Amino acid sequence: MKVAIIGSGGREHAISVILKKSDKIDKIFCIPGNAGTSTIAENIDLKIDNFEHIKNFVLDKKVDLVIIGPEKPLVDGLVDYLEKFQIKVFGPNKIASQLEGSKIFTKKLCEKYKIPTAKFGIFYKKIDAISFLEKVIFPTVIKADNLASGKGVYICNDKKEGCLAIEEIFNGKFGKAESLLIEEFLEGEEMSFFTIHDGKIYKNFDTAQDHKRVHEGDQGKNTGGMGAYSPSRLINNKLEKKILEKIINPTIKGLLELGTEYKGFLYAGLMITKGEPYLIEYNVRMGDPECQTILPKLETDLAEIIIACCNKKLDKIEIKWSEKKSICIVLCSNGYPDEFKKNVAIENLDKISLNKNEYLFHAGTIKKNDTIEAVGGRVLNFVSVSEDFKNAKQCVINNLDKLNWKDGFYRRDIGYKVIN
Ligand code: AMP
Ligand code: GLY
Repeated sequence: MKVAIIGSGGREHAISVILKKSDKIDKIFCIPGNAGTSTIAENIDLKIDNFEHIKNFVLDKKVDLVIIGPEKPLVDGLVDYLEKFQIKVFGPNKIASQLEGSKIFTKKLCEKYKIPTAKFGIFYKKIDAISFLEKVIFPTVIKADNLASGKGVYICNDKKEGCLAIEEIFNGKFGKAESLLIEEFLEGEEMSFFTIHDGKIYKNFDTAQDHKRVHEGDQGKNTGGMGAYSPSRLINNKLEKKILEKIINPTIKGLLELGTEYKGFLYAGLMITKGEPYLIEYNVRMGDPECQTILPKLETDLAEIIIACCNKKLDKIEIKWSEKKSICIVLCSNGYPDEFKKNVAIENLDKISLNKNEYLFHAGTIKKNDTIEAVGGRVLNFVSVSEDFKNAKQCVINNLDKLNWKDGFYRRDIGYKVIN
């Protein structure tokens, strides 16, 4: 069959590589893809917000299945649009995607179905938000209500920081903001928990831990993710049961009562506090870089799983995972997450030879003639799977050292909690 994958990041390259292993897949198109995907798929230079062009391409090439990687087209309703033309799509519809698209939608769902989450207030006016700061206990969390690639969240230590956050959000730093949330600060350790859904049932899709901050020791600005490891050190049967019963099941029930179903990956960002799970946020897709670290451990054919989801037959599939440990380290352009140079050549890529437990997924790269150039903040994802985290990490670091890219940097401490 022919598949089109929407997106251009490390997540989409990883999905392409793992799908390619399936004998069900004859051809992959990546829209628009990156230099990595161009080696195993055909990149198609279309804008992912031009739904009509995507639909025309898919119908013209008789693509059998579309897989949507990033949140924006999901939140904007690409699934609903393509399904109107009888195109098979893997991903949640527009209503269900509000789980990520609107924090207020999710908070109201939590309230109605008693899903554990931080206490919160919703504010539509600057003056009301600022006067509420008189009452809160610091640190407190202030969030823009729109998609902000993980950047619209402020952890504020005092009133002054809180006022600045409120100003920036309402002044449109993360796009037009009609409202914001002020939330209780949750203490504990975070975990990314994934499930995969066919609209009728769902199955677990492993766990991971990402490192969002730019500097070692989890310091500095929030980024899209500097690295990840899988599984999370926190997961056990008892906690898993609580997550399913207290968080995932009531969410699906809530969507059902709104007259909709969930199809696709669901990513619950959780805070685990004294063994109890709290929902921080939902994402309606795989995480990036969590996807890169999770998929190499999948032992079941990914194409079969996704096709089963599109046919509401996930109950017929047993999803098997390797017991091994996986680590992903992201190589970023110097300056990220602030300004960084674009179109910088990446040399030495030919010096890296990967064994069957190692992967190199591209993110912000393009191919120009015979050169690979960095064009994004997050550039390459180095992944290794091994019996233990320490060895997996060493393999990744060896490859990063071989590349020795002077225009980039990476965190050397990814996975420190499971290694030291
Ligand atoms: P979000 O975009 O909602 O996932 O938030 C980004 C990051 O901010 C999370 O991964 C957490 O590290 C942190 N964060 C968000 N909400 C809270 C909260 N209520 N308490 C503590 N940390 C939070
Ligand atoms: N790694 C965080 C995210 O994908 O949102």
